[in-house]
Amino acid sequence: MPAAADHNLFRQLGLKHPLIVAPMAGGPSSVDLVAAASAAGALGAMGGAYSNAAAIEAFADQVRQRTDRPFSINLFIPHSIPEVAADRLQRAVAATARYREELELPSPQLAAPYEEDFDAQFEAVLRVKPACFSFVFGLLPIDHIREAKKAGISLIGTATTLEEARALEDSGVDAIVLQGFEAGGHRGIFDAGAADPEIGMRDLLAQCVGTIRVPLIAAGGIMTPSDIRAALQAGAQVVQMGTAFLACTEAGTSAPYRKKLVETSERRTRTTRAFSGRFARGIENRFMDEMDGKPDAILAFPAQNKFTRDIRAASTAKGLPDFLSLWSGTGRGELWQGSAAELIGRLFAE
Ligand SMILES: Cc1cc2nc3c(=O)[nH]c(=O)nc-3n(C[C@H](O)[C@H](O)[C@H](O)COP(=O)(O)O)c2cc1C
Repeated sequence: MPAAADHNLFRQLGLKHPLIVAPMAGGPSSVDLVAAASAAGALGAMGGAYSNAAAIEAFADQVRQRTDRPFSINLFIPHSIPEVAADRLQRAVAATARYREELELPSPQLAAPYEEDFDAQFEAVLRVKPACFSFVFGLLPIDHIREAKKAGISLIGTATTLEEARALEDSGVDAIVLQGFEAGGHRGIFDAGAADPEIGMRDLLAQCVGTIRVPLIAAGGIMTPSDIRAALQAGAQVVQMGTAFLACTEAGTSAPYRKKLVETSERRTRTTRAFSGRFARGIENRFMDEMDGKPDAILAFPAQNKFTRDIRAASTAKGLPDFLSLWSGTGRGELWQGSAAELIGRLFAE
């Protein structure tokens, strides 16, 4: 008789702790952070969304030079978007002209493509063969699911509602991240233009436990050992934590971003479409405050993401947090500024 399938995700992956250190594209998920998390017995995750195929392979090589433990790669599922209308682009240019002037940037030139070629990224993932491939913003096409399974890669989708979780389960994923409204960074909502369902992690978990049969991974606002215990007791097999790791020594978090994260333990966050065109949660700043009042001057995702990239990069280079996406969850408390291994040790000390 064949052995029964093991539905325990972290045992299957041979993890010491039921923890995924969240994929955080755009810098924080450095090679050092991913390798440190995996080496410490959690699952480190590369946020590969903004990386091309060669960069994904080079990143994975570097992680493997540091650890032989399993790790994950994460990408954004692409959606076709209509051509950016000229009048809309004009409004976006006008609304951001003052920031570009302050940052001494030339007028923006926006042209498609607005994001990396997903199929080329996915081919790179298949060549790398990480233990896990995770994704946000929708379903992975069936042929991609087949190819990943053939390569022995476990698949993790992301849901913000029970309906999204059901669709992911039906598509054949091995586990699902349930991302609550508390979570830092982009909301994983399938439809970029839809209203945010705003479901908290504990409510979402309660809706899915007993209904969804694949392992559930809780994400959003988890900061402490008791937060972890509560999520596991409520039916999650694993937790995924992002914000708690942003100030670790290994994280690639930029200096002005880091400064904002640690200057107070009461980080004031909210969700905004201002930076990328998709809802994402971050610490309130001037760009968010001013742009949120001008929804007609915000382009669709991912065009807005490309459109604001020069502003965010110049803001980082000048050490200014005013125009940066300061992704952070609602979790309170001082962020750990030592090594990721020490933080993992403290989180699972009992
Ligand atoms: C800086 C940052 C970047 C993120 N980038 C990604 C990403 O590239 N892919 C992804 O699936 N989730 C991303 N997330 C969301 C995390 O996967 C996770 O849902 C979130 O961090 C959990 O909430 P917490 O930050 O309160 O722990 C990001 C989160 C942060 C804080």
